[in-house]
Amino acid sequence: MPNSSRNLETIQAVRSEINLLPQSAKSSKDLMEGVVQLLHERMLKYNWVGFYMLEKAAGSEPPALVLGAFRGAMTPHTRIPLNQGICGAAASTGKTVVVDDVNADSRYLACSIETKSEIVVPIFVRGTVVGELDIDSHFAAAFAPVDRELVEHCATVVGHYLENAAQ
Ligand code: SME
Repeated sequence: MPNSSRNLETIQAVRSEINLLPQSAKSSKDLMEGVVQLLHERMLKYNWVGFYMLEKAAGSEPPALVLGAFRGAMTPHTRIPLNQGICGAAASTGKTVVVDDVNADSRYLACSIETKSEIVVPIFVRGTVVGELDIDSHFAAAFAPVDRELVEHCATVVGHYLENAAQ
């Protein structure tokens, strides 16, 4: 089987497993742990997978993205202001950001010297950004449109869970 068909098959299998996670998750934290674990284990080029959740401004503290569930090496970026990084760009615009070569992007905040490409997908609850799913790869241009679709689907599943939990 050619590599691209195998990749597509893996993506479809992972998508189906993601769809089952909300049924057994005891909390949104539990769901997000399940998502990072599944993506990190099964998607071989997803070398760092993590959630950043938006913390509202409090007093003199501006809003920031705070590291949540993740798999991969510890990152120095545990709090990211909205005006910094690829993470800040995705959260402040509410749009998915795919960077094929992180070293050519001046917004990039380095997490590991091995990282070559990155995708960041915002998570919405009732139309408002509440966080994001961030994935780094040791491979350049690792995130094809099929990967983008999978990661956006994961963000949608988490957004729906949070939406229902907030009711
Ligand atoms: N590279 C991100 C920072 C987070 S680390 O990748 C885990 C950015 O540029 O915002």
